[in-house]
Amino acid sequence: MRAAEIADQLTDVLVTEEEIQAKLEELARRVEADYEGKDLLLVGVLKGAVMVMADFARSLKRPIEMDWMAVSSYGAGTKSSGVVQIRKDLDTDISGKHVLIVEDIIDSGLTLSWLLENFASRGAASIEVLALLRKPEAAKVEIDCRYVGFDIPVEFVVGYGLDFAEKYRNLRDVAVLAPHVYA
Ligand code: PRP
Repeated sequence: MRAAEIADQLTDVLVTEEEIQAKLEELARRVEADYEGKDLLLVGVLKGAVMVMADFARSLKRPIEMDWMAVSSYGAGTKSSGVVQIRKDLDTDISGKHVLIVEDIIDSGLTLSWLLENFASRGAASIEVLALLRKPEAAKVEIDCRYVGFDIPVEFVVGYGLDFAEKYRNLRDVAVLAPHVYA
């Protein structure tokens, strides 16, 4: 679905489907150049990264490997605890591999901070991050993200993989959810 079809549930459209696809093509050209002659493993972080992974991987004009991880925050009971639990681990042994983690969004940065440390301990040849969206003003830790799609303000955004109560992931655009939907 497009934002216009559920306009009553949204306030602003931050990034359109067309802008996302153009940006992913641009990032794909950069990644192709940066990894020329090297095998590349894309690791998607479920579930939010499903859309960006599907479109970005298909934008690449070369074969790549793909794997998935599912993680969730726990500990103090809030996402901001920074403690992460693996719900589904990689199927691949990443030692010696060039890994590109694919994320839909970097919010506080805590998930990626933990993942980067976890991956480093597995002996990857290199580890970089591609994130479609980033909220610079929400950062609790700085993430060295080589490929960023769009910096966005700290708003409740949904779409293109991002959910509210598991809904809106199938929105093609990225938009701000209207307060009456979640208040
Ligand atoms: C989202 C997103 C990132 C993480 C970013 O996942 O996909 O993995 O939050 O937030 P952070 O920078 O503050 O750590 P979420 O936990 O909502 O799960 P989901 O992908 O299954 O929706």
